[in-house]
Amino acid sequence: MTPRDLEWTAEEMRALGYAVVDAVVDRHQGLPEERPWRGGSRRELEALFRESCPEEGRDIGEVLARATGEILPRAGRIDHPRFMAFVPSSPVWPAILADWLATGFNIFQGTWLGGGGPSQIELVVLEWFREWLGMPDGAGGLFTSGGSAANLTAVVAARERAAERGPRSAFRAYVSDQAHSSVSRALRIAGIGSDQIRMIPVDTGLRMRPDLLRDAVARDRAAGFVPGLVVGNGGATNTGIVDPLEALAGAAREAGAWFHVDAAYGGFAVLASGGSELLAGIGEADSVTLDPHKWLFQPYEAGCLLVRDPADLERAFRVSAEYLQDTELGLEHVNFGDRGVQLSRSFRALKVWMTLQVHGRAALAGAVEEALRLADHVAERVRSTPGLRLLAEPSLSVVCFQARPPGRDDGAALDAFNQAIQDRIVEEGTAMISSTRIHGRFALRFCILNHRTRQADVDAVLDRILELAREGEGAPPSGPHGLRAAAP
Ligand SMILES: Cc1ncc(COP(=O)(O)O)c(C=O)c1O
Repeated sequence: MTPRDLEWTAEEMRALGYAVVDAVVDRHQGLPEERPWRGGSRRELEALFRESCPEEGRDIGEVLARATGEILPRAGRIDHPRFMAFVPSSPVWPAILADWLATGFNIFQGTWLGGGGPSQIELVVLEWFREWLGMPDGAGGLFTSGGSAANLTAVVAARERAAERGPRSAFRAYVSDQAHSSVSRALRIAGIGSDQIRMIPVDTGLRMRPDLLRDAVARDRAAGFVPGLVVGNGGATNTGIVDPLEALAGAAREAGAWFHVDAAYGGFAVLASGGSELLAGIGEADSVTLDPHKWLFQPYEAGCLLVRDPADLERAFRVSAEYLQDTELGLEHVNFGDRGVQLSRSFRALKVWMTLQVHGRAALAGAVEEALRLADHVAERVRSTPGLRLLAEPSLSVVCFQARPPGRDDGAALDAFNQAIQDRIVEEGTAMISSTRIHGRFALRFCILNHRTRQADVDAVLDRILELAREGEGAPPSGPHGLRAAAP
C-alpha cells in the first residue's frame, strides 16, 4: 500500500472537523451524567495501548474512535460540576473555539514579525489584566503555559535584577510554607540553593508574618546577603489564604527585594468584590502570576505573568542571534520570545480575548462571585453541622474540613476515617475531591471554581459525606481510584 499524501482534501477536512466538533459537544452535553473521574492503572493501560509505532497509516475513523472512545475518557473530567479536587478548570465554549482557531491558523507568537496581530492582542489582554490588578501604567508581561512557568519566569527576572547588588551566592529569597510547590521548583531551577531560601513563619491563619519577614531580612543584610525576592500567596493552593499583600509589599520595598505574588489560583478573584478586598495590595507587586486556565474559565494551557516593568523580563531573557536579526523591529514591536523561555509559542491570548469579547467581563465576574458564594455556603454548613469541623478558616473558594463523628477524636484514626470517606466519594463517583494536610491533620478539601457547579452539587457531596460519616463506612481496600494500592 502506498502511504497516503500528507495533504487532505477540503471535503475530508470538513467532514473530519465536524466529527470532532460533534464528539466534543456530546462530551460537554453529557458531562453532568458522567463520573467526575475515570482512569486506570498503568498495567491496565499498558495492556490497552502499548504498541509499536505504525509504519503505515490507518483509517482515520478508527483512530478518532480510539481517541474519543478509549483514550480521552480515561481521565479526570476536570470541568465536571462535581470535580472539586486540586484546582479545577472549566473552559467556556468561545475559549475552546479560540484554541482550535489558533492551532488551525498555526500562529507563531514568539516574534512580532511572526505574528503581529496576535502579539497586539496579547498586549491588549495583558493590559486588561493590569487594570484589573491595579498595577501601574507600563506594567506588562506575557502568556505562559501555566502558573509554574510564570513563577519560574518571575524568579529568574528577580534573580537577574538582584545580580546588580551582589553575587548570586548572596541572593536570598523569602517564602512561606504555604507557597505552591512550583515556587520551590522555580528557585531550584534558577540555581537558588536551599540555604538561600528563608522560610518565613505564618500566623494562625497560615499567612506570612510581615514582622518576621522584616526580622529575617535584617539578619540577612547584617550578614552581607542580598534580599532578592519575597513571594506572597494571592490565594494559596492549600487553603486559599491570601497573605497580607500590602504589608509584604512594604517590607519587600524596604528590603530592596522583588515582590512576587503567586496568584495563579486566586488572582481572578479581583473581579469579585469580596475577592478584591482580600487581594488588596496585589497591584503593588513587582510581578504577579495569573492562571486563566483556573478561575478565568480557559482550557489548558493558559498562564500569565505580569511585571511592573517588562524591561526586567527582557533583561533576564533576551539573547540576540544572527539568524533572528530580521525580527528586531524596535522595542515597541514586542517580541514575546524575549520575555520568557519560549521562542515558539502558541497564541494563548486569543482564547481570553474571545471569551471577554463574547461574554464580557461582568459575566465572568459573576461566575467568580458565585464560586465564592458557594464556598461560603459550604463553610457555613460545615460550621453549623455537628460531626463536621473546619480545619482552616476558609478563604477565597477553598474549604478544608474533616468529618468528626462523636467518639472519634483520636488524630491518626480520624485521619484514616476521613481518608476512607474521600476514597469512597471518589470511588463511587459522587464527586472528585482531593485531600490535604492542615497543621498535620488530614483534610477533605473542596476547591470550587467551576461556573457549572450549583449549590445542589456541593450540598449533595456534603450530604453524602455526612451519610458515610454516620454509617462509619470504610474505604474500598484499593483506595479511591484503585491506584494507591497499585503504586510501587
Ligand atoms: C498557587 C498556585 N501556583 C502555581 C500553580 C501551578 O500552576 P500550573 O499548574 O498552571 O503550572 C498552581 C496550580 O494549582 C497554584 O495553585
